[in-house]
Amino acid sequence: MKFAVLTLFPEMLETIINTSIIGRALSKEIISCDIINIRDYAFNKHHKVDDYTYGGGAGMLMQAEPVYQAYQAVKEKIPDNKRVVYLTPCGKTFTQKMAKDFSKEDSIVFLCGHYEGIDERVIEDIVTDEVSIGDYVLTGGELPAMIMIDSISRLIPGVLNNDVSADIESFSDNLLEYPQYSRPYQWMGKKVPDILLSGDHSKVEKWRRRQSIIRTYEKRPDLLEKAELTDEEKKMLEE
Ligand code: ADE
Repeated sequence: MKFAVLTLFPEMLETIINTSIIGRALSKEIISCDIINIRDYAFNKHHKVDDYTYGGGAGMLMQAEPVYQAYQAVKEKIPDNKRVVYLTPCGKTFTQKMAKDFSKEDSIVFLCGHYEGIDERVIEDIVTDEVSIGDYVLTGGELPAMIMIDSISRLIPGVLNNDVSADIESFSDNLLEYPQYSRPYQWMGKKVPDILLSGDHSKVEKWRRRQSIIRTYEKRPDLLEKAELTDEEKKMLEE
């Protein structure tokens, strides 16, 4: 997977892409991440990339031309790129399902806005997807881009040590993950549930599924509407 990020603040992205699991995926060359400074494509000698908005109003707007030129530079490196994601609170809310769909692409370009946003004309021209990471307003699109890169990358085969774990965790089937325990067996007087020590794999799986359903019911009942439950499981919740 080739990621490219168009931003005015490249340094904001450097920690996440060079750290931990994403950093390892980069050094293993399973993913790549090209960070492009939009300011390098400013067309005036002061490297100014923003200006006042027509019609008045507070704040500055990122101009169309530097964004467009920065994207042309990306297109030269990734000519067959199909997805350009603009991070904006006006976008479609990001979900695990979207992460999964994006993880099947060969490349994704992220466009991070700042100030009051970006001139609409360049958004119309280059953007294929407008994505929000939630109903709150941030100062720019860099954190949302990092969140998307993180959640998409972990779904790409080889990025996590263990390929099965990407899919069995919370949300993949609209259920939250079951509780997990490590050593010691007893901590602060609390013991690990005995079933997990039974060695009976099918009983453990059944217990985990039940815990997932109970947990989702208690913490995120809204998700349960989309979860596929057996008749027996539905009955359990009614009791
Ligand atoms: N830019 C500012 N706020 C945002 C949000 N909630 N999601 C995506 N991009 C944003």
